[in-house]
Amino acid sequence: MLSKIIIILTILGIVFRFTTSTEVHRIINGNYASAKQLPYQVFFDKLDLSNLHVPLKWTPFCGGTIISEKTILTAAHCLDDPNIYAVKIYFGAVNILNETEVGQRRLVVKRDNFVVHEQYDKHLMANDIALIKLPITLLFDDYIRAARLPNTIEQYKVSEATVSGWGYVNVSPENNNFIPTSDPKLKYFNTLILSDEECQLWTTKLGPTYSATLLCTAPGENTACRGDSGGPLVVRHYSNFVLLGITSYNFGICESHYPTVYTKVTSYLYWIHDNSGGYIHAIPYA
Ligand SMILES: *[C@@H]1O[C@H](CO)[C@@H](O)[C@H](O)[C@H]1NC(C)=O
Repeated sequence: MLSKIIIILTILGIVFRFTTSTEVHRIINGNYASAKQLPYQVFFDKLDLSNLHVPLKWTPFCGGTIISEKTILTAAHCLDDPNIYAVKIYFGAVNILNETEVGQRRLVVKRDNFVVHEQYDKHLMANDIALIKLPITLLFDDYIRAARLPNTIEQYKVSEATVSGWGYVNVSPENNNFIPTSDPKLKYFNTLILSDEECQLWTTKLGPTYSATLLCTAPGENTACRGDSGGPLVVRHYSNFVLLGITSYNFGICESHYPTVYTKVTSYLYWIHDNSGGYIHAIPYA
């Protein structure tokens, strides 16, 4: 587990900065979600074939968002690894360890159904977007429902946004290693989206082209952490959930006094449309 975290942190070397402070890094202080509250949220376990000397097992790793009856949106860095043979998707879940939870459903989907952005760049963390084409059509109910894609001409920035996931709830330093704690229950927090100008100050080392495709949420008490990747940054717009961002990375070891960075969904509406098999009507108006 720990070696994996370190590998990931190395991959994200340009953005993750190791600290040697002995402070405990609480993340997603947030709140526990209730059933039906975030019906668009999904979670993935992966079946990884990289080490055939150990028994195969499902490993929890990333979140995602339902955007249609046939499509899940997530981060490229979640699905890019060629050793992932399949994912198990949890729908309608609060407690992912509770097999009898009312409303929860699970589905195993093989790698053939993944579409990772062709220009995803793991060094720059650019174009960090991927989708999963479901081999079935989801039946929506109170527990399982799509978030809408944003409309490029609407202004959503003034709204409070919601970030959610089953990622690490605490990362504490022990013997100079960072020991994560996870929680089987879905958590969320509400936060503000930074202006594009403020976000670019943080992401500027990627250059203006990539910075323009990112959103940042404000530093505060809460932050997303490992395991929240790929999950939603959503605003309420009338009675709809609108997906503005895909959780991509943050700075330091999930330190909440830095912004969290998201792939900006409005920058990829054509890509989503072109790669989802025609199930999404998301052509921007402007
Ligand atoms: C699992 O879900 C069922 C049905 O929703 C509930 O009655 C039960 O208390 C849950 N168990 C745990 C351990 O949360």
